[in-house]
Amino acid sequence: MRKKIIAGNWKMNKTVAEAVELSNEIKRELADCNSVDVVLCPPFTAVKSVSDVVSETLINVGAQNMSSEENGAYTGEISHSMLKELFVRYVILGHSERREYYKETDFWINKKVKKALEKNLRPILCVGEKLEDRESGNTEQVVEVQVREGLKDVPAEAYTDLVIAYEPVWAIGTGKTATSEQAQEVHAFIRSIVKDMVGEDAANAVRIQYGGSMKPDNAVELLAQPDIDGGLIGGAALDATSFAAIVKAAM
Ligand code: PGA
Repeated sequence: MRKKIIAGNWKMNKTVAEAVELSNEIKRELADCNSVDVVLCPPFTAVKSVSDVVSETLINVGAQNMSSEENGAYTGEISHSMLKELFVRYVILGHSERREYYKETDFWINKKVKKALEKNLRPILCVGEKLEDRESGNTEQVVEVQVREGLKDVPAEAYTDLVIAYEPVWAIGTGKTATSEQAQEVHAFIRSIVKDMVGEDAANAVRIQYGGSMKPDNAVELLAQPDIDGGLIGGAALDATSFAAIVKAAM
């Protein structure tokens, strides 16, 4: 049985003061939650403060990106050791906004995934098609390339620490959610690719989250699908009540 995982991707929202307030509200609701893995991914500037707030709880902290390099002359980048020092456990990699606005490619995303795993950070690898891909019938082809390239050379035993987030780009922040059938279909497809790449045990172990306008009112149905193991939540993660309601839907 795969444990469900609900992660809040706060994106470029929340000053330190606001992040402390939000994480305290979430802590009041979810401090002892052990049936679902809960992850908060604040912007870098608030990671330390959020880590401090949740330090004595079961809530995990994640980052929204990470450098593939160790250290050195990489202006504006953040390394694995900087994150681990702040008790970060998870790191979102290859989010569609990073692919789209910062031109991140599968090659670099794969380097980051491998670096994170090597350093005991759990990657949340985001994949997903754009609206034009779906409309032209290319969803599977696009997702397959992102999965195969993003996870290239990742050994089978690493898949228990790895999370894949299927986020159809047309559903992110738009209020349009994939139907639970549409999402389940792609999740099952992703699991079949993993099986083909590294075998059945890894395919059964890897957790695949859905992301894209997941809200309390659609979470129950999405999370009831056999291959949907959690959610990567953007907008609804900025409100403690909504986020907690989604976590409760996963229990
Ligand atoms: P959304 O964002 O929930 O606001 O659609 C999800 C994401 O981008 O991770």
